[in-house]
Amino acid sequence: MKIHFRENGPIVLPAKKGDRVVFNGEERVLQKDGLALCRCGASTDKPFCDKSHKRVGFKAPGGDLEGV
Ligand code: FES
Repeated sequence: MKIHFRENGPIVLPAKKGDRVVFNGEERVLQKDGLALCRCGASTDKPFCDKSHKRVGFKAPGGDLEGV
């Protein structure tokens, strides 16, 4: 598996549009490829990224974590 850390943005787990995820019993259907999880702490929809990282000016390097 490869986990992508988007520069100045979320952690993106591999997933496909249409995949279903369940968090604390709440199911969602992904609307696009990739599952973006907040790492800036500003999302109002944690653990999911709601793009608040742009509003707060979150800065962090990007990269890929592989082999997990
Ligand atoms: S990383 Fe996108 S809202 Fe936090």
